[in-house]
Amino acid sequence: MGIGRPSDGLASTPPMGWNSWNRFGVKIDERLILETAEAMVTSGMRDAGYRYVVIDDGWMAPERDRNGDFVADPDKFPSGMKALADRVHALGLRFGIYTDAGTKTCQDLPASLGYEFRDARRFAEWGVDYVKVDWCHTEGMGPRALYAKWAMALRAARRPIVFSICEWGRSRPWEWAGELGHLWRTSWDIQPEWSSILTILDRQAELHPFAGPDHWNDPDMLEVGNGDLTVDQGRAHFALWSLLAAPLMAGNDLRTMSDEVREILVAPEIVSVDQDSLGRQGRRLRREGDVDIWTRDLAEDGRCALDYGLLFGCLSKR
Ligand code: GLA
Repeated sequence: MGIGRPSDGLASTPPMGWNSWNRFGVKIDERLILETAEAMVTSGMRDAGYRYVVIDDGWMAPERDRNGDFVADPDKFPSGMKALADRVHALGLRFGIYTDAGTKTCQDLPASLGYEFRDARRFAEWGVDYVKVDWCHTEGMGPRALYAKWAMALRAARRPIVFSICEWGRSRPWEWAGELGHLWRTSWDIQPEWSSILTILDRQAELHPFAGPDHWNDPDMLEVGNGDLTVDQGRAHFALWSLLAAPLMAGNDLRTMSDEVREILVAPEIVSVDQDSLGRQGRRLRREGDVDIWTRDLAEDGRCALDYGLLFGCLSKR
């Protein structure tokens, strides 16, 4: 596939996991990450396909060390990232981390501009399996070139690492990011509100030709179980994201979630649509007033998933 990253099978179906940002923002520490990893196992999420435990913005100390290496905030992560990654791996899970392509992260912490190869190497040493690279503080820079540098840096680090590109869909990443990374954001940040979910959904209607195994549109992480979303809205959000072949990154507190929320996240008939091996993203078939009809082709001959309003069924044919 193209000049950059060859199709490597690391994300032959959309990545599934959990990310700290939507629920916890920068209020993260190693205890939260470990408890979340444990909850991912005891809740049945791991067995349902969730694999990556991803630490988003807020993990780094305010300064790099004397060599220029990234350092984890010692108050939040006293054992260090390598030890944390080891414990996550011991649970049969994979470990993900965040940085930013510019001069600072979106929370004004140290970021990776000029340190791409050093940081990719460091992440590989820590045992990182997934890296999300954000786009704050990048004034005047071209995303295509900078993310290409990151793709090279990750390849040079010689560890299989899923590469999540996060420039919010500003430069039509669906046209170029598939050669560099495994997934790319297509929109601004999701909020735990139904209106945000519908706004993002509308932006996905034309993007289906660009997605496939190892290269996925990312309409952002899940808000199921967050904010004021009702159970029905959470269910619809999850079903729609799986129709879109979206990465399924839970964004709620797995340690305290209700049974209803847990059942949404592990629903086998919905997860299997998301993870369908054909890897075709769904598309909008019709829009009539308030009603949308979306459809998605599935691998099994003659099956497709149809989603209209809040209903979700598997009928019809390709
Ligand atoms: C941006 C990203 C979010 C999150 C925050 C962290 O807004 O789009 O997903 O990573 O930065 O600061």
